Amino acid sequence: MTSLPDLYTRAQSAAAYIRTLTPLVPAVGIILGSGLGSFASAVENPVTIPYATIPHFPQSTVEGHSGNLILGTIAGVPVAVMQGRVHAYEGYTMPEVTFPTRVLGLLGCKTLIVTNAAGGIKPTYKPGSLVAISDHINLTGTNAALGPNEPRFATNETSGYRFFDMTTAYPAALRAIAVEEAAKQGYILEEGVYLAVLGPSYETAAEIRAFRTLGADLVGMSTVHEVIIARHMGIPVLGLSLVTNPAAGVSNEVIHHEEVMDIGRQVESRFSALLTAIIPRL
Ligand code: 6GU
Repeated sequence: MTSLPDLYTRAQSAAAYIRTLTPLVPAVGIILGSGLGSFASAVENPVTIPYATIPHFPQSTVEGHSGNLILGTIAGVPVAVMQGRVHAYEGYTMPEVTFPTRVLGLLGCKTLIVTNAAGGIKPTYKPGSLVAISDHINLTGTNAALGPNEPRFATNETSGYRFFDMTTAYPAALRAIAVEEAAKQGYILEEGVYLAVLGPSYETAAEIRAFRTLGADLVGMSTVHEVIIARHMGIPVLGLSLVTNPAAGVSNEVIHHEEVMDIGRQVESRFSALLTAIIPRL
């Protein structure tokens, strides 16, 4: 019987493999959500690495998540872009879902940008609204840091602990940069609280009413696990949600995955321009 090496060793072997393909040390990691994968084409001098070729990397089974890690530069800044992510609702375990985040940290990323498609709970959000995540509520019923603590994932003295703070997971200074750059580009970047559920079903209208009472502005099925792991590693996060549709009961419409993908395509140039302006300021 052969058993898998421990998580840290697996993540190090993935990082070591990636380093054989490019000498670039990424400063910023970017995880692209549903319908937002086209930002990957903005990366200059890209080295594209299919997830399937990276040791221990999980493969996405969802349409709209293509599955490439792209290293290159944006406005001269070395970046690692994950085009597609895996979700817990596909049946992946927490260590699998957050494995790419661990690898981005080991590669040297000092900041993580996580993006997602989300349902709008706050009634003023419209399909196509971009929102900076100010905080989250994890109602997925699990936690990405489950399992033995691994202090070797620390990137500084204040990280790698069994118990860790979440009050500074989304630093206001990073959000302020995003808000400023959006304003320069002529629109308002809202800020809001992202609530994560396990999925894959969308919510009922009663759930969304409950979530609104809890203080949620957005709802989705990703992001919080990656943010928890980034925080464990001591990496600050900028979270950006694209509102693709009103959440259940906020409008009378039925929610379709196609609509999520369509809205992504409609705002992709605005979204890419925003990311490109933010990255050199991080
Ligand atoms: Cl309405 N709910 C969830 N959980 N995820 C979404 C969504 C809604 N719309 C896009 N992604």
